[in-house]
Amino acid sequence: MSTHFLNTIEETDPLIANALANEKKRQQDQIELIASENIVSRAVMDALGHEITNKTLEGYPGNRFHSGGKFVDIVEQAAIDRAKKLFGCDYANVQPHSGSQANLAVFFLLLEPNDKVLSLDLAAGGHLSHGLKANLSGRWFEPHHYSVDAQSEVIDYDALEKLAQEIKPKLLIAGGSAYPREIDFARMGLIAKKAGAWFHVDMAHFAGLVAGGVHASPFPHADIVTCTTTKTLRGPRGGIILTNNEDWFQRLQSAVFPGVQGSIHTQVLAAKAICLGEALTDDFKAYAAQVKSNAKTLAKTLQSRGIRIVSGGTDTHMVLLDLRSKGLTGNRAETALERANITSNKNPIPNDSPRPPEWVGLRFGVGAATTRGMKEAEFKTLGSILVDLIEAEAADETDAVVASCSEQVARLCAQFPVFSN
Ligand SMILES: Cc1ncc(COP(=O)(O)O)c(C=O)c1O
Repeated sequence: MSTHFLNTIEETDPLIANALANEKKRQQDQIELIASENIVSRAVMDALGHEITNKTLEGYPGNRFHSGGKFVDIVEQAAIDRAKKLFGCDYANVQPHSGSQANLAVFFLLLEPNDKVLSLDLAAGGHLSHGLKANLSGRWFEPHHYSVDAQSEVIDYDALEKLAQEIKPKLLIAGGSAYPREIDFARMGLIAKKAGAWFHVDMAHFAGLVAGGVHASPFPHADIVTCTTTKTLRGPRGGIILTNNEDWFQRLQSAVFPGVQGSIHTQVLAAKAICLGEALTDDFKAYAAQVKSNAKTLAKTLQSRGIRIVSGGTDTHMVLLDLRSKGLTGNRAETALERANITSNKNPIPNDSPRPPEWVGLRFGVGAATTRGMKEAEFKTLGSILVDLIEAEAADETDAVVASCSEQVARLCAQFPVFSN
């Protein structure tokens, strides 16, 4: 048999083997607080590395453009059935290669070039695929943005309603990448209807919480829903589109393929089916409840030590810090935490500077550490470590604090291992 089939990564490509080994060790040795991340199961990993990746297929189960697809059909049908059951809807397309691709397919389905789109402002937590000028969605369509109330930092639904009446968008989008509160889907659905707009919910961040029954569902208020299978849903990198609209469904299939994509990432499809199956279990429900509780514990711990939390708390897996009172940018804080093996990301907060180096926000998400098994007690400890590091950075006295926090992080990582080898 050819060495092509036999050689391991170590034998074939030591540079990449070494980088992969180091990445695995990094994940074991660091506490992950990036809100878009999580840790997938062994079963999901097995699917991602499976021979199914060799199979090229276009089309949908039972109606393919290539032969040899009967086993992938089983996989795709299972993913579709599980997605529908999990989110309580009638139709699912599980092929989008990512959340952005899923959103692009929705635009392709519902809009013509230059149509108006109304979405959450980026600084208030929106996402670039919802009409940011740097993204195709903002270049080929006409983006408008609603924001949050200056005091509560929660979506200003009255102002949104007024704006929607003025603008009359064709599409109203809810959801974002840094909005830590539950969205009033019923209210937004009515606002969309009154303005003559379709209502699209992008639940990329909180899909796992909806699946676990600890967050309101966008259905029946949304006309169409997208999500990633990463983040709280704890699956592979990919997207899903859901709807109850029978009239749209065939056009939606065409909007994904051949509209914005070609062949299926078959290995990801299998991993999606597995993660959706996992999300139907009671274990997943317990994980989702723990995520919510951990995020609240983290927010309260940070607040008790004088850190301002945007919107005063969280209803999701996400906690957004305002570092202005500490005199730090998000950039500096992110770097300071990484010195003690905690990963996070700088983020704009409402009314922040448009320049990333000047952003004063820092975003945390508790999904990955919750999957590791950390609970309220650990999140109290972690909260204190985070404030110690932030205060030390603000005072420019980091060495001793970084050393002691790194030791505490190492202890937590050893107590909650991620990988068995
Ligand atoms: C709300 C939202 N939608 C879409 C995406 C894009 O997902 P992807 O990175 O898979 O394209 C993200 C990613 O963070 C997101 O937060």
